Amino acid sequence: MHKSVLLKETLEILDPQPGGIFIDATVNGGGHARAILERVGGKGTVIGIDWDKDLVEMLRSEAAQKEYKNFHVIYGNYKDIETVIPKKIIGTVDGVLFDFGYSSYHIERAGRGFSFQKNEPLDMRYDNHGANTTAKTIVNTWPQDSIADILRACGEERYAREIARAIVQGRKEKEIATTYELVSIIERVFRGRSRGRNIHPATRTFQALRIAVNEEFENIAEGLAGAFRIVRIGGIVAAVSFHSLEDRIVKTFFRERAQKGEVELVNKKPIVPTQNEIQMNRRARSAKLRAARKINISL
Ligand SMILES: C[S@@+](CC[C@H](N)C(=O)[O-])C[C@H]1O[C@@H](n2cnc3c(N)ncnc32)[C@H](O)[C@@H]1O
Repeated sequence: MHKSVLLKETLEILDPQPGGIFIDATVNGGGHARAILERVGGKGTVIGIDWDKDLVEMLRSEAAQKEYKNFHVIYGNYKDIETVIPKKIIGTVDGVLFDFGYSSYHIERAGRGFSFQKNEPLDMRYDNHGANTTAKTIVNTWPQDSIADILRACGEERYAREIARAIVQGRKEKEIATTYELVSIIERVFRGRSRGRNIHPATRTFQALRIAVNEEFENIAEGLAGAFRIVRIGGIVAAVSFHSLEDRIVKTFFRERAQKGEVELVNKKPIVPTQNEIQMNRRARSAKLRAARKINISL
């Protein structure tokens, strides 16, 4: 079960009241959504969105068993938030929560190559029923320069050029089909080099491929814009990010909107987890929560 990050803090920021309408745009196993549901009570509504159909089906059957009448789970991309939610609630939503990236389910159970520590097919799509390019297609068909570009832009990989060259060399010998095949190519590049900061040599490449496969940066920007269009005046959009590239998109987006007088920042500095939470959940260590309130109808 995925441990929800910054749960107490997101509830404080969203402050769900009885009868409220909230959207969890990255519902996953419903950790945050359940807590919001308890606060809004029987007269409130919580809509969860996830791009992973398998997860959505699991959560729907659980919601049906528990007879949650006011909890609706939608399969979709949060970048389309305006079109996937019921039209009648547009403009009445009290808050939207984003909790970006992958979950424990993706690492431990999905079998789609999200982790370099497991030998799985190189897929990395959240939406494995959809049409997005897989990581396998990227590493086996993209030009060397394009691979280097995404390793730099989405993984801040210092050795992007060297890794891209090794990938292209490797695929000439044999198609790269699994995570371990890719890891062994990356490890060869790092032989004799120091990776620094004690991270595995494949960490940044895997991050970059996951972001590129799922077009995560584009989705975040479009999702935030859509969320502000569907909340009411006074409604809140909150976002939990897990690395500096994600956080930069959220920070820039909120600041630009605040400068135009469309939103106000709820917290000037990002909210980060307590030491206690980090000790209980390693994934929380890099989390940052930012939130903004809609103050202008023109959005
Ligand atoms: C970190 S998990 C959310 C955990 C959840 N807040 C909880 O407490 O249980 C992120 C989820 O976002 C989903 N996701 C990633 N990109 C998405 C997108 N563009 N649209 C909708 N869901 C997405 C993933 O499938 C994953 O289930």
